[in-house]
Amino acid sequence: NTSDYYSSQSQPPGTSRHIPQTIIVGVRKGGTRALLEMLDIHPNIVVAATEVHFFDWDENYIKGTEWYRNLMPFSYKNQITIEKTPGYFTSLHAPKRIHDMNSSVKLLIILRDPTERVISDYTQVYYNRLESHKPVQRFEDIVIKNGVLNTKYKAIQRSLYDVHMERWLKYFNMNQIHIVDGNTLIKTPLKELQKVERFLNLPPRIVSSNFYFNQTKGFYCIRSDGKERCLHESKGRPHPVVNGTVLEQLYSYFREHNRSFYKMVNQSFNWH
Ligand code: A3P
Repeated sequence: NTSDYYSSQSQPPGTSRHIPQTIIVGVRKGGTRALLEMLDIHPNIVVAATEVHFFDWDENYIKGTEWYRNLMPFSYKNQITIEKTPGYFTSLHAPKRIHDMNSSVKLLIILRDPTERVISDYTQVYYNRLESHKPVQRFEDIVIKNGVLNTKYKAIQRSLYDVHMERWLKYFNMNQIHIVDGNTLIKTPLKELQKVERFLNLPPRIVSSNFYFNQTKGFYCIRSDGKERCLHESKGRPHPVVNGTVLEQLYSYFREHNRSFYKMVNQSFNWH
């Protein structure tokens, strides 16, 4: 339904644009695109096609809520609008700004093993730099400086889920927040999506035949409205093989943060 919206800017009778009732706030490289595209299968969900960066970029935020609403797709009364911008999760301003707009909004956060997320983040930047002919560095050379873990590295900072979560919990109650397990979404997407349907109080409409495993891609792809599609080739890229000692250093750095996060959200994950 997203592509329909972009091909015809005309407004179908009985529809209008709404500010999102649900926002996927992150985390970057957690599987945010997969989550959004898979939720788009649901007939009661419409999604914003692009990352809007309304709450995290000041130059957009000053344009106001009407600007934001006008970027949303047309929807019927029984549909909910979802936007995703992964940068919100680590943004200092996003929690307050979202709360100011709609204090009863529902938030979706998709997280994966923090070390895996760092490697995925690195891989994305690595390919972006290659494409723009900028020099690239080995993962180990960025992560280890003078023999110790470079905890200032942005990708490591973004994986401190407890630090970021604390800011969200200042404004939102846990019953407004649903955490999607990004590792599970990769392996058994239906299971995670059914939990989201329940969280959003939607009738169960996403079914197993909406997914098929694509051997070449190595990931699940989507079958919906008689069409089959996989995510863009930038999603699900092979990761570098990382030195075992460096991996251990990352695991042990995140261990305490993970524990504190599990306590904060009263939920555990199988992270290293
Ligand atoms: P990798 O490319 O490192 O494997 P985001 O959309 O937030 O940037 O997240 C990208 C990640 O989504 C990918 O990271 C990939 O692991 C994950 N993902 C989950 N389900 C996927 C799917 N069905 N197809 C492709 N990638 C998927």
